[in-house]
Amino acid sequence: MKKIFLCLVVLTSLIAAEAPLGVNALSVEVRTLLSQEMLSIEASMQRIFSHIVAGEYEAITREASNIQNSFILKKELKASERKELHSKLSSAFIDLDRSFHETAGKLANAAEFDEKENVSKYYTQMTNKCVQCHSTYAKHRFEKFHD
Ligand code: HEC
Repeated sequence: MKKIFLCLVVLTSLIAAEAPLGVNALSVEVRTLLSQEMLSIEASMQRIFSHIVAGEYEAITREASNIQNSFILKKELKASERKELHSKLSSAFIDLDRSFHETAGKLANAAEFDEKENVSKYYTQMTNKCVQCHSTYAKHRFEKFHD
């Protein structure tokens, strides 16, 4: 019995060490930064949509570059906050965030060279990444995404 209990304790701590805690475990400061970044990204995506349909490519480049550089991990995070992000969020989350910001960079480039089709393509890819991340990691916030 004692052995089983011990096994359970070891197993639970192993799982705890493996499974990142997720967004809900972030400190108020870091979570506020994340939330601010999200709200500004959303507003920017809406402006980009208007610029796409108006053929305003310079404005798209500007907006998309801002999104690319707003990468929460690149921000002026204190070393302790950066550490917190990496310990509490899974590497899959961080990779998805990184890939989202890279796509913003591709959109900025495409717009710089007036590549209409690529502009639409990367805008759609970015939108898909919002959905992918929210439906995986932010179901607590976007309850319509369920399994
Ligand atoms: C890599 C993951 C990830 C990507 C990519 C992502 N989000 Fe989010 N987003 C989140 C998480 C996690 C939350 C919930 C944060 C929380 O609960 O504090 C969130 C919350 C939000 C919110 C609510 C913010 C608030 O405080 O009310 C908005 C709006 C939002 N995201 C917009 C977007 C848009 C628009 C995109 C794409 C252009 C996007 N997000 C891409 C992870 C992501």
